[in-house]
Amino acid sequence: MAGDSVVILDQRALPHREEYLVCRSVDDVADAIRTLAVRGAPVLGITAAFGMALAATQSTAPSAPALLKELERVGRTLKGTRPTAVNIPWAVDRMTEVGRARSSPATAPERIREEMIAEALRIEREDRDACDAMGALGAELVPEGANVLTHCNTGMLCTAGIGTALGVVVAAHRAGKRPHVWVDETRPVLQGARLTAWELMRLGIPMTLISDGAAASLMAAGKVALVVVGADRIAANGDVANKVGTYSLAVLAGHHGVPFYVVAPISTVDLATPTGADISIEERDPSEVTTPLGVRIAPEGVSVANPAFDITPASYVTAIITERGVIGRPCESALRETLTARRSA
Ligand code: MRU
Repeated sequence: MAGDSVVILDQRALPHREEYLVCRSVDDVADAIRTLAVRGAPVLGITAAFGMALAATQSTAPSAPALLKELERVGRTLKGTRPTAVNIPWAVDRMTEVGRARSSPATAPERIREEMIAEALRIEREDRDACDAMGALGAELVPEGANVLTHCNTGMLCTAGIGTALGVVVAAHRAGKRPHVWVDETRPVLQGARLTAWELMRLGIPMTLISDGAAASLMAAGKVALVVVGADRIAANGDVANKVGTYSLAVLAGHHGVPFYVVAPISTVDLATPTGADISIEERDPSEVTTPLGVRIAPEGVSVANPAFDITPASYVTAIITERGVIGRPCESALRETLTARRSA
């Protein structure tokens, strides 16, 4: 947050241009989220938090209860941007709670504004620390010289730190384990080709870009030691919502005996959602499929389905790596235990 705006590295322009988007209102922040200028579950939560702080800063509400009402309305707008990543409602609720805790008429609205900014900064800092912790835990699971396959983009662009799944690779690289990464394109929005390749090349981590369909034969040839992916929401039973195509990789990994790790901060675990079937999957604009990067590739009038995410059943997940520990064979009791440990910590 810079003064009276939220500044975002516009991921739509990458890898060709590094452009910053200045969001001067909550509507600008909501648009940036909807249009994927900013994307990836953890940073969506952080952006929503700063959106709430921006709303508080700009509000002219004369009293604390009036400000709280405004924050609740803004929170609904932000929650309505993208339905799958739980990090958005998680951050909005946490920010709203700050306003609610101070909503007595005796509280000066200015006090709430300051506390909202402090809370957004805290959420950002916690995410950075979580990335470091997940990276350290995950790196231990990466063998020397391993070929690691990853999907979508889970690095520094979509967190406040080194990343979730990609953070594990970064930590393994820094620990001298010499990982090599198979980066799949991640159709239709190409987060792998555009963003993960850009990040890894900047970091000097060896990588090879592959088409999404190449994963099966690489695994069959024994050229994949492990798969690491992120998550947008983890249901109470351990089912994982992540970028469409994750489920097929998990099935392939299971078939070929390749470990399949999900790396996500506990803010991505949603105990209020019982199973993956209860997670709302975002359906995005057909033009992402027919006209990638503005180039029309499908006939006019074609029928298109464009679910942005899919659900990987918990049974295909070797372990979930969180900042609180590695949860092998993810299930409700293990997830609950991990989240409770966080609260009492
Ligand atoms: O549609 P996107 O690009 O926001 O989807 C992102 C993903 O699916 C990521 O894998 C997930 O958010 C984890 S980010 C650390």
